[in-house]
Order: sequence, then structure tokens, then C-alpha cells
Amino acid sequence: MTRIGVLVSGRGSNLAAILRACATGEVEGEVVIVASNKTCPALDIAREGAVPVVRVFSLTEHGDLPSRDRAMADALDAAEVDLVVCAGYDRVLDDGLVRRFEGRILNVHPSLLPEFGATMDAIGEALAAGVPRTGVTVHMIEPATVDAGTIVAQETVDILPGDTIESLAERIHAVEHRLLPATIQRWIESHPAVSPQANR
Ligand code: GRF
Repeated sequence: MTRIGVLVSGRGSNLAAILRACATGEVEGEVVIVASNKTCPALDIAREGAVPVVRVFSLTEHGDLPSRDRAMADALDAAEVDLVVCAGYDRVLDDGLVRRFEGRILNVHPSLLPEFGATMDAIGEALAAGVPRTGVTVHMIEPATVDAGTIVAQETVDILPGDTIESLAERIHAVEHRLLPATIQRWIESHPAVSPQANR
């Protein structure tokens, strides 16, 4: 069973979708740790889902980004994760963490990257730009890049006349909740023995 660590900062709807997919077997993995940079509703979803390790790694506690992300990487290693998924994690990860898990970190972003990358308001910016479509991207997180790692899945969402941020966000999130678990499963199928943990 592939061991998955999920990094979160917000509502946790993508975490909930991953937990559901693990429960149904759509994803052949288990979420063994959920880590966050701050207190957020996603942590309650992790606890309700009986995730064994749920931890906050704040800058206040750890001092600076490299120290915080080193502590978070140590916790991911201690949980023996095979794969790390950023599901609404709202900070750029320190390169030290990214290098430790290189090739094993996925991120979901609410636009058709490279359009509307490196922003926390990709949905609002797409709407304001008047483009006919936007979408969802799942990509690898790679060192020294922000929202620019190898794209592993992408799906288009049309922007409809009269769309508001809320209506567009709802359709984008619906796509994320399907595309992210499906992409995690595809990653698992193509990495059957990435570490000794993967076959447990
Ligand atoms: C999602 O739209 C994701 O693409 C972006 O942050 C949002 C997180 O939502 N990176 P949630 O916390 O999973 O509900």
C-alpha cells in the first residue's frame, strides 16, 4: 500500500477527496500523515478521517522556512511516505524539502498552467482576464520552480457567460476532486517500487 503524506493550508476539500478515494480503493494508498503550516479546517478533516499523524509546523515555532520545512520533511520521512501531495498548501516549499522528495511530490493548481501560475488567486485572475477557459493542473513540484514542474494531468473548464468567482470555483473544485485522486492512482501504478514502503 503506497503511503501518502498530504500538505494542506485551507478548507481541505481535496484532502477529503483523497481520503474518500483511498477508502473506496480508487487510490491504492493510505494517508499516513497530514501536515500544515497553520491551523486550518483541513486538519479537522484529517482527524475525522483517522489519519494517524496530523501536525502543524508553524514559522513561529520553527523560526524560518528552511528549519520549518526540515522539521516537516523529517516528519514525512518518519511516517515513511512514498508520495507527498500538496492539496491546497499555500506556501512555496523550501528547496531542501523538495530535493528530499524529488520525483515524489505532486501539487494541484486551479488553472491551466503555465497560465495563471505563481498566484494564490488563479481563478479570480482567469475570470478578470476574460479568457474563454481555464482549468486544473496536477504537476510535480521540482527544485527552484513555482508552479512550473512537469505537468502530469490537466483538464479544461470553460468559463461561462455570467460566471462569478464562486460559480467558476465550484466547477474547478469538482474537477480537482476527480482529477487529483485519479492522478495519484496513476502515479502509484507507475511507481510500484519507489521505496520499500510501496509494497507493504
Ligand atoms: C484548490 O483550489 C487547489 O487547487 C489550490 O488551493 C485550493 C485548495 O482547496 N492549490 P481545498 O483546501 O482542497 O479545499
